[in-house]
Amino acid sequence: MVVQPMVFHGDRLLLLDQRVLPGRVEWVECRTAVQVADAIRLMVVRGAPAIGITAAYGLALDAGRCADLNEARQALLASRPTAVNLRWALDRLAVLPADALADAARAMHADDLAINQAMGAVGAALLPPDPTVYHHCNTGALATGGWGTALGVVRSVHAQGRRIRVWAGETRPWLQGARLTAWECLQEGIECTLLVDSAAATVLPRCDAVLVGADRVAANGDTANKIGTLQLAILARHFGVPFYVCVPRSTIDDACADGAHIPIEARDPSEIRGYGGVTWAADVPCWNPSFDVTPASLVSGWVTERGLWTPGSA
Ligand code: MRU
Repeated sequence: MVVQPMVFHGDRLLLLDQRVLPGRVEWVECRTAVQVADAIRLMVVRGAPAIGITAAYGLALDAGRCADLNEARQALLASRPTAVNLRWALDRLAVLPADALADAARAMHADDLAINQAMGAVGAALLPPDPTVYHHCNTGALATGGWGTALGVVRSVHAQGRRIRVWAGETRPWLQGARLTAWECLQEGIECTLLVDSAAATVLPRCDAVLVGADRVAANGDTANKIGTLQLAILARHFGVPFYVCVPRSTIDDACADGAHIPIEARDPSEIRGYGGVTWAADVPCWNPSFDVTPASLVSGWVTERGLWTPGSA
């Protein structure tokens, strides 16, 4: 395992700062749940499973300091709305005594790695021997407990000694693909070619599958993931390319009937207008939804650690 997005030391949590990768490798130190909530909101750490694990560590930090964890819990829950793993993780800790939270968060982190590796094996078996895949956003070690969901499938194929080629969409506006997925592939020696999101239609006919993760899958299979996923699913259907959503079971929200009930985070327009202090857009209003919802009918399969999930099954 090369990349690790968070390291817990009991009284402090170190988060690999994903805002400045790949240019700089820096760590942000958190000592309270509110600091952790801020780090999640600012995207020091991002990716649905990683957000859930980080929130669990955040609650554990306050368990050693505060008698009442309700404020910490609310701050963490409010940090980002779309990824259901955040609520899932905090709900799991809610039934435990304060002195058990640190160990429970550590166990959740270790479980996530094992779950992703199991999911990787399931996904790897669906692909041809030496596949070419299109990948969106970053769903790798940085977005999880250290292996990845969709990129975890890529990692698993690579670990099996098979040749896998990845077309990585840059993922405007935050550039998770350009900055994070490309960097992870480089660390692992996985063949990766970066392309602008609008080149997807040109390259997709040469792909064996599209692999994406998700922030929340509704009970009917509607899938919220990084903005741009829906258009990829439509393209994949047009070209007859399988479109797989790779998720731990904890990303499937049984309490959410369909995609219309998934809250979609709107992020700051400044992410679209420019980057690193440089503004390139003319001064018009910007709309920056962070996620979109792909209808279940466009998904070829949901790859989980338990095998392929179908809406309505456990
Ligand atoms: O805004 P982000 O970077 O947190 O969005 C991440 C994604 O959309 C991922 O595809 C999703 O969380 C799955 S990560 C394993």
